[in-house]
Amino acid sequence: MERGSLLNVSGLRVIFHTYRGTIKALNGVELWLNEEERLGIVGETGCGKSVTALSIMRLIEQPGEIIDGSIIFAGHDLLKFSEDDMDKIRGKQISMIFQEPVAALNPVFKVGFQIAETISHSRGISVKDAYAEVKESLEMVGLDWQRTIDLYAHELSGGMAQRVMIAMALAVKPKLLIADEPTSALDVTIQAQILELLDKLVTVGKNAVILITHDLGIASEFCDRVAVMYAGNVIEVASSAEIFDQPLHPYTKGLIESIPVIGKSRELVGIPGVVPDLVDPPTGCRFHPRCKHVFDKCYSDLPSLTEVKPNHHVACHLYQ
Ligand SMILES: Nc1ncnc2c1ncn2[C@@H]1O[C@H](COP(=O)(O)OP(=O)(O)OP(=O)(O)O)[C@@H](O)[C@H]1O
Ligand SMILES: [Mg+2]
Repeated sequence: MERGSLLNVSGLRVIFHTYRGTIKALNGVELWLNEEERLGIVGETGCGKSVTALSIMRLIEQPGEIIDGSIIFAGHDLLKFSEDDMDKIRGKQISMIFQEPVAALNPVFKVGFQIAETISHSRGISVKDAYAEVKESLEMVGLDWQRTIDLYAHELSGGMAQRVMIAMALAVKPKLLIADEPTSALDVTIQAQILELLDKLVTVGKNAVILITHDLGIASEFCDRVAVMYAGNVIEVASSAEIFDQPLHPYTKGLIESIPVIGKSRELVGIPGVVPDLVDPPTGCRFHPRCKHVFDKCYSDLPSLTEVKPNHHVACHLYQ
């Protein structure tokens, strides 16, 4: 089923072979996106946000394996693409800002060269010609280009590295930008600056964006729609306003209740129980051991992500 005009991820399953056993990391992820749309992906650590993003980039490597599903981007299934085909998509039509900005940069090349190389690769122009655009790219993200081009990755602060990553990701003018926790390594004031910058740039560039964050507040402020993940599944998707005002899934409700409200004396509620071990995940709905509404069906059947109100999807037996 094609639900988005740009991207449709369907039934995506990813496992990791480890000494502890097989980690069933993604359990049939459903996700879709329209052109120029901003989608937030939120959820607790380990729920599969980065693995979903890396799958879209086809960057899942050993011991990981994509075992099922489809990722239709602009009409083509990326999972059926050869490495050569994928090379024409990755860093050109889809670019990604990684969770660890300093680690994602190459340690042996200067920043200026890395940006030039990225532009050169994406447009098929020479590195020398690409250099002409480096200055503009760095200025766009608020960096002093003269001071920055000759630095190595380890000489950048976290905030600078993140800006360089954004400059590189946007210089290629991708149709889809995936930003994986672009601010989590940064302090709060720089976080706000980076989000503002990203906002400005994607508005100008008209790219679609997937913003991955563990912060529901950031996601709903920045995005049109928010997808909530739990233990390897997207369990609810709705507009940013609706996910806050009328959450349906018991997990989403718990997440929202656990956000402390400044100025109001609202206790941090949290959700009882722990995130399941994905080597031996719960049967049926993976949330059932933590759910206060659990009933028989939840133990045996995985609920599918179903549209229960216009543009509001939920995977929960309470609504099916
Ligand atoms: N290279 C790997 N080897 C083994 N297991 C992995 C690997 N990468 C991810 N996993 C497992 O896959 C699951 C999903 O991980 P993922 O990194 O997508 O979580 P996340 O939602 O991005 O979490 P975080 O908020 O901490 O970034 C986890 O159980 C994790 O342990
Ligand atoms: Mg992650």
